[in-house]
Amino acid sequence: MSFPRQLTSVQSISLSELCQQYGTPLYVYDGEIIRRQVARLQEAFSGLDMHIKYACKANTNLAIMRLLRSLGVGVDVVSMGELHMAAQAGYGPGEITFTPSGVPFEEVKEAVEAGAVVNVDSLALLEWFGETYGSEKPCLIRLKPNVAAGGNIKIMTGHRDSKFGISVDLLDKILEIVERYSLKIIGLHQHTGSDIKEASAFLQASEVIFEAARHFPDLQIIDLGGGFKVAYKPDDEVTDMAHLGAEISKGFQKFCQSYGRNLQLWFEPGKFLVSESGYLLVQATVVKEDPARTFVHVDSGLNHLIRPMMYGSYHHILNVSNPEGNPSTYNVVGYICETDTFATDRTMPEVRPGDLLAFLNAGAYGFTMSSNYNARFRPAEVLIDQEKAALIRRRETMDDLLRSQLDLA
Ligand code: LLP
Repeated sequence: MSFPRQLTSVQSISLSELCQQYGTPLYVYDGEIIRRQVARLQEAFSGLDMHIKYACKANTNLAIMRLLRSLGVGVDVVSMGELHMAAQAGYGPGEITFTPSGVPFEEVKEAVEAGAVVNVDSLALLEWFGETYGSEKPCLIRLKPNVAAGGNIKIMTGHRDSKFGISVDLLDKILEIVERYSLKIIGLHQHTGSDIKEASAFLQASEVIFEAARHFPDLQIIDLGGGFKVAYKPDDEVTDMAHLGAEISKGFQKFCQSYGRNLQLWFEPGKFLVSESGYLLVQATVVKEDPARTFVHVDSGLNHLIRPMMYGSYHHILNVSNPEGNPSTYNVVGYICETDTFATDRTMPEVRPGDLLAFLNAGAYGFTMSSNYNARFRPAEVLIDQEKAALIRRRETMDDLLRSQLDLA
């Protein structure tokens, strides 16, 4: 997808006017981009019975989830909190998958009772599931395929040392428990990691799943997780979806033939669906010309977008107010009392105090990873869809910060 060089409006709605109305920092989402991404994924796998389950940890705003649901996208949740939000956004029991990571079994029970289908991620949970439900409730099993892929080690989940899923090397133990409790395993799942560019990682993981799948006669679903890479830098190479679709489809169809049954193929992307739709708009507060370098301070920080500080992630920054300014080189930093550097040595059009800056790719893991550190309010959110802007979350206030404190004074 082409990377914007300038950004002043989204769907002809002026960003500076939005910021005047709602203040900064402000998360803004472009619904058209979400629609486009769903269509791209559907197109890439059009020959298969492919279902998308949105990994809503990327962005749990109800309006975003409602939009995705209206496009025929299901949802994958990792907590009861996410499950309740998905339900609030209109998702019915049959549309929700629960993919926990070592959660208390009570929580799994709640999810099952709420009608979600569970991705079992440990032998202990499988055993508990057998004891509790036997053959009554179907489930999926999350396998760890021993494939190392992803943008950085913190977001790799399928390698041998990862905490996620049940190692495929433990297949015999899995089968023994399944047989003992006559468990109805309707699906096998894997998620290799996030920011995966190479189709080969998905193909390698899918081969591991196909191999294991031969031992499960009741399968209806193969779930290959999420993790497709989107462009964070203008020259980033991304997952070639058409190529991936063609290659996975070949292997999947071959597998279904040898398995003797048509299966559903599930994916559960987060970033691919919503990352590029989101912008975090901030205002430059102080431009500090230090002997070592020039700092641009903005009215935001790691409390609103932690990815650069947590993973060293690159987020492209556009100067909305001064797109034609002379290029200058800055460290773009936040207002939190930590070293919250958004960008180091970033060359961009001259930034003046008061300029509006836009961080790109803020739609996934932006707001959902935000916090109230330094007793700062989390920003408002706006969704622009079909040429209309709607406030979909108000900015927090002091009441929000104090709501759950018990003041014993
Ligand atoms: N499925 C499972 C089981 C997952 O754990 C995840 C992400 C996804 C799907 C969606 O992955 P995606 O398509 O969004 O790459 N906070 C990190 C990413 C952590 C991803 C955690 N799991 C980041 O901002 O890069």
